[in-house]
Amino acid sequence: MNVDIHIVDTDAGFDHCRAIRMKVFVEEQAVPADLEMDELDAVATHILATVDGKPAGTARMVDRGTSVKIGRVAVVKEYRGGGVGRMIMDFAIDEARRRGYTEAVLSSQTYVIPFYERLGFVAEGPEYDDAGIPHRMMRLPL
Ligand SMILES: CC(C)(COP(=O)(O)OP(=O)(O)OC[C@H]1O[C@@H](n2cnc3c(N)ncnc32)[C@H](O)[C@@H]1OP(=O)(O)O)[C@@H](O)C(=O)NCCC(=O)NCCS
Repeated sequence: MNVDIHIVDTDAGFDHCRAIRMKVFVEEQAVPADLEMDELDAVATHILATVDGKPAGTARMVDRGTSVKIGRVAVVKEYRGGGVGRMIMDFAIDEARRRGYTEAVLSSQTYVIPFYERLGFVAEGPEYDDAGIPHRMMRLPL
C-alpha cells in the first residue's frame, strides 16, 4: 500500500477532496451538502491522501491567527483502519508547526474523540450539536 499525502494546489486535487467529503459526510453521515461545502473552502489549505494513486482521504486547515483549525477529516470507508487518518493528521500537525502556529484546534464528532486523543488532542467544554451530530472542541499545543 503506497500512501501519498500532499497539499492540494490544483482544482482537480480539490475536486477529489470534495468528492471524498460528499461521500463520507453527506452520503454516509447525512450532513446537508450546503453545510458541508462552505465559504472557508476558498481560503483553506486542503490535504489529499491517495492510496496506490486513488483518492482515499482528506482534511483542511483554516488559519485563525496564532492557531489553526483542522477540519473535514475524512477517510473513504474502504481505506479506514489502516493508518491513513493518522497519517493525514500527522501531516497537518507537522505543516501547522512548520507554519509557526502555536496550537491546533478542531471540532470533533464525539464518537471519534479517541482517534484525536491518540494524536495528543485534549477535549474541552461541553458537547454541542453541529449538522445534527454531537461534537466537542479539542486542542493541541504545538
Ligand atoms: C475518523 C477517521 C478519519 C479515522 O480514519 P482511519 O484511517 O480509519 O484511522 P486510523 O486507521 O489512522 O486510526 C488511527 C488510530 O485511531 C483509532 N481510531 C480510528 N477511528 C476511531 C474511532 N472511531 N474511535 C476510536 N478510535 C479510532 C485507530 O484504532 C488507531 O488506533 P491505534 O493507533 O491504536 O492503532 C475515519 O474513520 C473517518 O473518515 N470517519 C468518518 C468521518 C468522520 O467521522 N470524521 C471525523 C470528523 S470530526
